[in-house]
Amino acid sequence: MNDKTELTEEDKSLLLNHDYDGIQEFDYPLPNWWKLSFVLTVIFSVPYAIYYLAMGGPTLNDELIQDMASLNKVRTAYAVKMAKFDTDAYSAFEGPEGIALGAVVYEDNCLSCHEEKGKGDIGPNLTDAYWIHAKGTASTVYEVVLNGREDKGMPTWKEDLTKDEILQVVSYLMSIKNTNVEGGKEQQGLLIK
Ligand code: HEC
Repeated sequence: MNDKTELTEEDKSLLLNHDYDGIQEFDYPLPNWWKLSFVLTVIFSVPYAIYYLAMGGPTLNDELIQDMASLNKVRTAYAVKMAKFDTDAYSAFEGPEGIALGAVVYEDNCLSCHEEKGKGDIGPNLTDAYWIHAKGTASTVYEVVLNGREDKGMPTWKEDLTKDEILQVVSYLMSIKNTNVEGGKEQQGLLIK
């Protein structure tokens, strides 16, 4: 590599006056943008400290409480919106595409208890005309899926699935209703024609 003798006069003027086992270093000045940003942070810190330390600016905890309050407002509004069966939104999922989306939601979340094609196991057979809680219609099935029947082993889904996902899985259930799949679980509930 470069020998020390190849350094220009300017290089040499920047060379620091120390030597570690033959290794020397240059003393380049910090770039101006860096110095400027440092000065700006120092200037910024003065009103910042006055506001937060002396003028009663919100603490992290205050900000958390405010954020949680507005988050809860959004959550409540969403829960209220979700509780109502949205006919318009549902109609968008009634076709084959919506049913296919619903089949995926079903496989991921419901299959473990309601088994393949809805034939039933831990949960009831969803392919017959007998219903325990729902009345066989999209809106009543929606309500059961949304709120669950936790005391009877059917989980609530409003926390884990979006409104659209529930509407899709309802559309899927409507498509398998009354298909009386082979090997299905015995009838439970009331016959709804
Ligand atoms: C942990 C097991 C379990 C899972 C997972 C589960 N269910 Fe259920 N489900 C049940 C049980 C048990 C019942 C019946 C409760 C009873 O006997 O009163 C039920 C009932 C239902 C009913 C009402 C049937 C009727 O006859 O009125 C519907 C609809 C339903 N489940 C849909 C779903 C959907 C959709 C999913 C997935 C998003 C799902 N379930 C996931 C256990 C489950």
